[in-house]
Amino acid sequence: MRAATRAAATTIYDFMRDSLLIKAAFSEKTERPPVWMMRQAGRFMKEYWDIKNKYSFLEMCKTPELAADVTMLPVDLLGIDAAILFSDILVTAEAMGGDLSFTQGTGPKFANPVRTQADVDKLDTEVVHKLQYVADAIKIVQQRLKGSIPLIGFAGAPFTVMSYLVEGGSSKDFKLTKLMLHNEPELAHQLLSKIATVTANYLNLQIAAGVNAVQIFDSWAQALAWDDYKEFSHRYICEIIGKLNREDVPVISFCKGSSVFAPLMAEAKPDVISIDWNVDLLDIKKRLPAGIAVQGNLDPHILYADKKVIKERIYRLFDRMKDENGFIFNLGHGIMPDIPFDNVKYAVDIIKEYGPPAP
Ligand code: CP3
Repeated sequence: MRAATRAAATTIYDFMRDSLLIKAAFSEKTERPPVWMMRQAGRFMKEYWDIKNKYSFLEMCKTPELAADVTMLPVDLLGIDAAILFSDILVTAEAMGGDLSFTQGTGPKFANPVRTQADVDKLDTEVVHKLQYVADAIKIVQQRLKGSIPLIGFAGAPFTVMSYLVEGGSSKDFKLTKLMLHNEPELAHQLLSKIATVTANYLNLQIAAGVNAVQIFDSWAQALAWDDYKEFSHRYICEIIGKLNREDVPVISFCKGSSVFAPLMAEAKPDVISIDWNVDLLDIKKRLPAGIAVQGNLDPHILYADKKVIKERIYRLFDRMKDENGFIFNLGHGIMPDIPFDNVKYAVDIIKEYGPPAP
């Protein structure tokens, strides 16, 4: 097993090695599956708004004490099994030269979209020092967690980050991004390659600062045809994972579209693949190489439903996965901001009470 080879040393990793999340990520047996949720550090909590009403989103990301405060909210209020650092996938693109802003209701915007050779040439790759505020936040969170649960770091995958740079913000159809892939593949590769270099350095910065796991978010991979996914996304995720100082730090690969791309995602050698809700989790796990754990895959909309439905659907998933090592409970994508907090808390509570059905 990849994780078992590290030389003896007493670090935060030693405390974490026996945590539910790290054991499950390395496909080891756990007394119950661990639970955390994508976008758990966010707007569905009143306490998030108490902070957000005083500071802008980017101020929150860039002020280590504030980022640590938000990271700790779901730890303290929900009792989840892993914290995820409060930040955003677009901080790498900003460090490279993107003029980023977040406006309430419209999401991220880049005032200087990247569409031409000159735009790509202008992007800087020696930028990881500009992201020191993330390393500082990680250190504060680890002091507060005191080894109780692992901290997950993250970055965006190059294709997803590229889409924001090219479109200048969020997009429904990724028209300009796909046009660049199809009409100017060389230019697209230059851009993706620059983002991949920064992303690998950035994740290694997070690992050096003390995160216990990392997740790569390729939220919009689903927009791509199989061949384009392989050429313009998968290839760069392989490059990034290959460069990570990942000993004892499991790598989780997430994309929307994983129900289709999972067998290819496995070739990048992550420890865990995070699966969307379009597929039966056990079926897809059985199609993956042994030793790759799965994370997922509840439809986040279930958390809007009645508690009886929430419990029935979560226990149905747990019953299905009961004989599997290497299962981390999560949603198929992030929590929506208007999901009732009470329902999220209920989900975490019943997961902790789960006992497998009698054989
Ligand atoms: O998971 C967590 O709770 C950790 C924090 C986190 C945020 N963004 C905080 C955030 C993480 C892991 C992200 C990743 C992220 N950011 C992704 C990939 C994850 C996914 O859901 O697919 C993407 C695509 C982004 C880009 C981004 N950031 C968008 C599109 C938006 C606005 C759109 C929206 O969801 O409303 C953001 C802003 C953002 N990132 C917020 C939060 C809490 C909301 C900011 C606010 O308070 O207005």
